[in-house]
Amino acid sequence: MLLVAAVALTAGCGGGDTAPSPSGETGDRGLPAVPAGFPRPTVPADNPLTAGKVALGRHLFYDRRMSINGARSCADCHEQRRAFTDGRARAVGISADQVHPRSAMSLTNVVYNAAFNWANPNLRSLERQAEAVLFNERPVELGWADHEQEILDRFRHDPLYRDLFERAYPGDPDPFTTRRVIQALASFERTLVSGDSAFDRYLRGDSEALSPAARRGMDLFFGERLECFHCHGGFNFSQSVNHQGVVFDQAEFHNTGLYNIDGRGAYPPDNRGLWEFTHKDTDMGRFRAPTLRNIALTAPYMHDGSIATLEAVLMTHYARGGRVVTEGPYAGDGARNPYKSSLIAGFVLTEQERDEVLAFLQSLTDWDFICNPAFSDPFGNIPMHERCP
Ligand code: HEC
Ligand code: HEC
Repeated sequence: MLLVAAVALTAGCGGGDTAPSPSGETGDRGLPAVPAGFPRPTVPADNPLTAGKVALGRHLFYDRRMSINGARSCADCHEQRRAFTDGRARAVGISADQVHPRSAMSLTNVVYNAAFNWANPNLRSLERQAEAVLFNERPVELGWADHEQEILDRFRHDPLYRDLFERAYPGDPDPFTTRRVIQALASFERTLVSGDSAFDRYLRGDSEALSPAARRGMDLFFGERLECFHCHGGFNFSQSVNHQGVVFDQAEFHNTGLYNIDGRGAYPPDNRGLWEFTHKDTDMGRFRAPTLRNIALTAPYMHDGSIATLEAVLMTHYARGGRVVTEGPYAGDGARNPYKSSLIAGFVLTEQERDEVLAFLQSLTDWDFICNPAFSDPFGNIPMHERCP
């Protein structure tokens, strides 16, 4: 099943959607290779991946001058040591009063996403997603609205960035534009590919890579009692993937029974999921199933960070067939949410089986990804995970 040799992410020149693949190559021009067993990602024809853009995007990603008041960079909410999340239940923008209703998402394998954010059916490219972050006003994440030139001038007048922009966009008379910034950020993000966890090594034939417990947990995860794989399936443990060869890209959203406020299925007012776009009752509480790669490092969990641990996700949410909130304004039994997916039916696990599923989820951590110096802070200020060499 997993025969694909590593091929360069930009295989062929130009990096367009249909570039032929010189199989067997790794890392063309310093760019990452497609892991064995992964499909070839798509890269938009008008933003081919180049080492120059990736280098620029990496610097911008880690630079707090990207926010109007110097308080935030992308990396403040997306830390490599936490698989590019921030450890908070809800993200905080450029000041303490700019609290996001949602939890920062992992950037693991975003090059393969069919849709972006927890429940947005319209954000279909990394470029569009980055634009939304720059200009978001509810909350203010970076604060570019009405301040584009001011922020771009910071880079225009910095010799380091004059060099980086020139290498990213050779021959461009004025690369200091919002569009060029967005293209570089998206290029860096496209390199954040994770496919070398213990689970991946096991699939590639290293039978020792998974402990017997993790192997039994894998069987439970992919079995019909737990049903996890229906929504977190495929090479990226998420159904919403897009890559070369996909005809209809899939963006799927599910209600997992996290809330049931009025007994008729409501979710909290700032987090109603797909309903916010469609206003259809049946879309209440429907969110995208995110990738589970590197999931052990991204607590707290769910769109609003409302579950603290993986054990609680498994036992107090899924095993119960939905979570009960016992008090407060959001009280209600999510298991009885009328819009809940029929796949969230609940199940019984012994303590041993619980530990096996957790061992399997832990085996999805890819330490080469978490410790990859190419993804780290180029200014050297942000610490790596303590396990990194
Ligand atoms: C204030 C914290 C914060 C900052 C700063 C921030 N993000 Fe995010 N990021 C989030 C949150 C919260 C989400 C989920 C948003 C939602 O679902 O509405 C998210 C989602 C994303 C996603 C979607 C991932 C997926 O799987 O769909 C990408 C990509 C992303 N951010 C990239 C960036 C980039 C690039 C920057 C810098 C330009 C950035 N973020 C800055 C908090 C932040
Ligand atoms: C019906 C589809 C579906 C099934 C089945 C399902 N999930 Fe999920 N999963 C989702 C969705 C959707 C979310 C996000 C929900 C939210 O935030 O409201 C999610 C979130 C998660 C998260 C938190 C992710 C994060 O980044 O915070 C974990 C962990 C998880 N699921 C594990 C599992 C496991 C383990 C199983 C099997 C017991 C499972 N899921 C079964 C759809 C599903």
